[in-house]
Amino acid sequence: MKLAQQLEPLISTEQIARRVREMGAQIERDYQNKELVLLGVLKGSYMFISDLARSIDLPLSIDFIGLSSYGEATESSGVVKITSDLAKPIENKHVLIVEDIVDTGLTMRYLLDNLATRRPASVKLCTLLHKPSRARTRIPIDYLGFQIEDRFVVGYGLDHEDKYRNVPFIGVLRHG
Ligand code: IMP
Ligand code: MG
Repeated sequence: MKLAQQLEPLISTEQIARRVREMGAQIERDYQNKELVLLGVLKGSYMFISDLARSIDLPLSIDFIGLSSYGEATESSGVVKITSDLAKPIENKHVLIVEDIVDTGLTMRYLLDNLATRRPASVKLCTLLHKPSRARTRIPIDYLGFQIEDRFVVGYGLDHEDKYRNVPFIGVLRHG
């Protein structure tokens, strides 16, 4: 069976493309004359950051951080480990975190606290998706793509057991 047929479509390729362009335009306006670092959280944000960066006409730089949360596959434990750190210091830089989804918020809480110790000029958060019903800590989101219900979604970078990241739209896994 085709990968796409295993999913119930939620957000189409066209909807994603339109929203990402809008977010890029807003970021471009907000970061004029600032040293911007787009910080992608691996691996889920790889497709989003790639499209978003092409929608921002500024001389930005791109870096990545790998985070993993101990515990069950579909539930964040709040105990987070850095599996791959930034390549460069962010001191005095304007950092924009690019994340796939804020669910409980525990991963972002950890990352925000960790980045704050590195003396950046500013740290803001851009996330493609947000499940507000699951929040366990208040995370300020500066740029939001789509707010979604509490359903487990995959595609456009998001995975289930490391699969489905390459599906070009966002959908809910069909069971059975
Ligand atoms: P949080 O710490 O609960 O906010 O979520 C941390 C991570 O869990 C996210 O960055 C995603 O990688 C993953 N995650 C949460 N919800 C989903 C989902 O619906 N699909 C795929 N991954 C998810
Ligand atoms: Mg993630």
